[in-house]
Amino acid sequence: MPIAVAETVSALRTGTADARAAGRSIALVPTMGALHDGHFALVRRAREVADLVIVSIFVNPLQFGPTEDLDRYPRTMDADVAELEQLGVDWVFAPSVAEMYPSGAIQTRVTAGEVGSLYEGRTRTGHFDGVLTVVSKLLNIAQPDTVLFGQKDAQQVFLVARMIADLDLPVTVEVVQTVREQDGLALSSRNRFLDEREKLAALGLSIALKAAESSAHRGVDAVLAAAQSVLRGEGIVELDYLKVVAPETFLPVDDDYLGKAVVLIAARVGTTRLIDNTTIFLGGMRN
Ligand code: PAJ
Repeated sequence: MPIAVAETVSALRTGTADARAAGRSIALVPTMGALHDGHFALVRRAREVADLVIVSIFVNPLQFGPTEDLDRYPRTMDADVAELEQLGVDWVFAPSVAEMYPSGAIQTRVTAGEVGSLYEGRTRTGHFDGVLTVVSKLLNIAQPDTVLFGQKDAQQVFLVARMIADLDLPVTVEVVQTVREQDGLALSSRNRFLDEREKLAALGLSIALKAAESSAHRGVDAVLAAAQSVLRGEGIVELDYLKVVAPETFLPVDDDYLGKAVVLIAARVGTTRLIDNTTIFLGGMRN
């Protein structure tokens, strides 16, 4: 079957009604387009877990702040659809802003709570309310059995999983590991804004995370110090935050914390904001 593109909620619902009635399993991969191998890893996994795969492409204004890059966010719809067709995707859902928010300003929102105002949410006020609101709309529109997200956006994964649990949404979340360039740089739609010099500097993020991993046996403070010392050498990398958080709460851990933790990093390289993270295991052998 060739790929089908639905630009309206009713077109997607009508187009997928037969599959749903026949009890075929459905996976949804929400994206904002400008697709790269990170997105494609989610799509491939979706193809493995479900009979019918829907990829949504929607640059959601609700999750961009007034001074953020909504207008400059890359849009490559034709190339995206062609790639998704190659990967055997059944449906692309590509609504307009008016289709998703017909009354203009939306009244009802999902709020992300305490963790929503930390890290990414601290500089991007309302960002995660916008993410959770559009994700819940997309879940209601597509009604998938499985929804897939990338670990690249660890805080987003945490908050979406919490929303699904808190609101008893009938969907399973599947998380896909971060896809990186060979040199370690996490793939991102925003990487295309980096010039050669910035791209090299951006490597500082993944190198800092590697340094964090190597120091995990020495405790949280050592992890932070190791990552910071990598970034100190990179003049054009302006660190926004570097945190070690517990996976269950996503709150920062104390120096004596033992067990699995997530190291979060965000930095501005030139005018481009990048985020990355890694999972570490804080062991008991300190020196
Ligand atoms: P977007 O940035 O387009 O990302 C779509 C999905 O691709 C997210 O789940 C993200 O974590 C995943 N992804 C991006 N880069 C990745 C990489 N290098 N490796 C693995 N997965 C990667 O995240 C959003 O869009 C939006 O907030 C959205 C959830 C669509 C709501 O608007």
